Amino acid sequence: MPKQQLKKHTMEKGTQEPKKRAPRGKKEIITITGMRDILPQDQKYWQAAINSTHKIAADYGYGLIETPILEYTDLYVKSTGKGTDIVEKEMFAFMDQGGDHISVRPEGTPGVVRAYIQHGMINLPQPVKMYYIGPMFRHEKPQNGRYRQFFQSGFEAIGEAGPTLDAQLILMGYNIINDLGIDAVVQVNSIGCTVCREEYKKALLKYYKQHSKALCENCLTRMAKNPMRLLDCKEPSCEAIKENAPQILDYLDDECKKHFMKVLEYLDELNLPYALNPRIVRGLDYYNRTVFEYWAAEDLEGKTALGGGGRFDGLVEVMGGREKTPACGFSLGLDRVVSKIRESEVLMEEIYQPDIFLAQLGESAKKKALVLYEKLRKDFKMSQAFYKDSLKAQLEQANKLKVKYTLILGQKEVSDGTIMLRDMNGAVQEVIDFNKIEAELAKRLEKYSGDEGVAVIDTEETKAAMSSKKKHDYGDRVVEETNDFQDFGGGASFGGDDAAGDAPASGDY
Ligand code: HAM
Repeated sequence: MPKQQLKKHTMEKGTQEPKKRAPRGKKEIITITGMRDILPQDQKYWQAAINSTHKIAADYGYGLIETPILEYTDLYVKSTGKGTDIVEKEMFAFMDQGGDHISVRPEGTPGVVRAYIQHGMINLPQPVKMYYIGPMFRHEKPQNGRYRQFFQSGFEAIGEAGPTLDAQLILMGYNIINDLGIDAVVQVNSIGCTVCREEYKKALLKYYKQHSKALCENCLTRMAKNPMRLLDCKEPSCEAIKENAPQILDYLDDECKKHFMKVLEYLDELNLPYALNPRIVRGLDYYNRTVFEYWAAEDLEGKTALGGGGRFDGLVEVMGGREKTPACGFSLGLDRVVSKIRESEVLMEEIYQPDIFLAQLGESAKKKALVLYEKLRKDFKMSQAFYKDSLKAQLEQANKLKVKYTLILGQKEVSDGTIMLRDMNGAVQEVIDFNKIEAELAKRLEKYSGDEGVAVIDTEETKAAMSSKKKHDYGDRVVEETNDFQDFGGGASFGGDDAAGDAPASGDY
């Protein structure tokens, strides 16, 4: 990377703050601008997007690759392109303690191509198909759907030139989004090869020169540096000019045209909702031929594309790999995908939905419960709150967790060698032989297989068990078994959350 350019986004070795910026001062320590926490309650949306990625990867035979988050800056200068916005303005780049120019990855494709070359994957059966999920970093102006740390899931297939691969990759990205219930339209274009693109660039420049007075500052720079990006401008004044600009499709040579027609033919065959969009040029240097983006159906201008990709037939060679190694891929912006999942208000399954809650009351019961839990967690989806002494608080938690059964172990049960099993759906409570609890739980959970969420209770058996009310002695109080469970199935209040040692009123459990 040229020295002056590097200066723009590197800190001098050993300094703590970027030169021009005033120190942050004694501000509260919060997340860095454009970066955010993904909290436990949001994980179900993220897991859905991640699971959908893994599922599609398995369906189409892609292997997971993890590349480092830090790479030499040169990797991105060579691949993403030194004239691109990403490399010019957006990389978190610095000089490390050893004097090397390092960048925090702004995208995943260069790292995957580097790995393909570095590990001699050219010797494997081609194409080599890899996918990744992870954070990317771009110092962009934060705004809706645009962050400085964001997550991508990406797919790259290296070593295959045929249009079937392009169509299949387009389909895969669409499937990931569609399986999540998001309505999207694929925007497709071809930007040809270097030869046809040169002809096109000349025609484009000729056209834009006639309108240069009306262009925004950025477009004037683009004219000099990267004319294809003129078509990407979202400024209203430039939009009108873009309307009548020459279209790349008219400049494709025979081979590029044939390739693109085949891609479209396969997309038609697959009935994929796509729009031919001559304005899609993509902002990275390595693309050729097929390029595409995924836009949410209501995002008519593609302001926050859900993903994008295309062919990059020249990149392996540019990076020092074997000549003429074709490739194609795409990445999805998971932050945007997740935001769409949320908007759709589809009910997401909780990541971990326990079936059984183990509650305890009294010191000896707590000790026994600690050990029992270690046994049960191996075969059942369990939950507990052993740090709470109040039975009321524990039962409230069990209720909130919507478990199917709660096991209750008190001092009386410890001395009797029993345990109480409470059915949270059927409002039935029974005393079970402690040694038979695993078999009992397995038997009862079977009723939920095929999971409609409602247990079929063996009513005669349980009624009989419940007809004789038993008394339990919990040290300072005696509790009578009850079959009146409206109190905690139906949401009666149990008072404060964790009042240690709170005694449940008789019949509260
Ligand atoms: P990209 O278009 O730069 O392509 O990024 C892909 C997707 O990442 C975008 O469509 C968007 O959803 C998301 N994205 C990008 N920047 C941000 C941001 N600042 N905040 C939130 N989301 C963002 C690439 O990165 C290429 N590597 C794609 C590719 C793979 N081409 C071939 N293989």
